[in-house]
Amino acid sequence: MESVLNCIKTRRSVRKYKDQAVPKELLKQIVEAGLYAASGKGKQAPVIITITNRDLITEITQVNAEIMGSPNTDTFYGAPVVILVAGSLKANDKTAFADGTLALGNMMIAAHALGLGSCWINRAKEGLSYDVYKDIFHSLGLNAEDFVGVGHLALGYPEGDLPVAAPRLPMREFYID
Ligand SMILES: Cc1cc2nc3c(=O)[nH]c(=O)nc-3n(C[C@H](O)[C@H](O)[C@H](O)COP(=O)(O)O)c2cc1C
Repeated sequence: MESVLNCIKTRRSVRKYKDQAVPKELLKQIVEAGLYAASGKGKQAPVIITITNRDLITEITQVNAEIMGSPNTDTFYGAPVVILVAGSLKANDKTAFADGTLALGNMMIAAHALGLGSCWINRAKEGLSYDVYKDIFHSLGLNAEDFVGVGHLALGYPEGDLPVAAPRLPMREFYID
């Protein structure tokens, strides 16, 4: 496994995936990285929902594309796995969204470390007001209204080489001694 610092630098958003299932053991390791993220007051508020059901991914994709205003676009790039992260408003209303972003960040690094690719796919916040999302939560014994959608990860084995990172923009790094 690469060093953490190297993984952070070499991770890239992947937008082309192999048609290859990801073993459950790897998915669990990635999700565990999300579960171990820091959270406001240590409340461990985000929920992480891993979806490999192709029909459900298609339904989510349709909603996501509709929200984006580009119907019929595969906004998840054909990834075999979609991980949805939502922050619990009941457990941590002040930091629910921030908690979820950190879980997503951890999982992106973990996926890369394990040889997988991922891409943050937005519009989870809006998504939660759609029936398909409400039904997902309901099927898990949860109420979508108690959560804020934070983001999704498209996840899978990358097809082709990873893109090169854009140069880091200047004037974003300051030190005060
Ligand atoms: C909050 C957030 C939302 C994003 N939403 C999308 C998205 O909806 N679709 C997409 O293809 N990429 C999305 N991305 C990925 C960014 O486009 C990507 O991180 C950026 O271009 C930098 O590339 P890199 O991740 O390879 O460093 C999102 C990233 C973040 C952090």
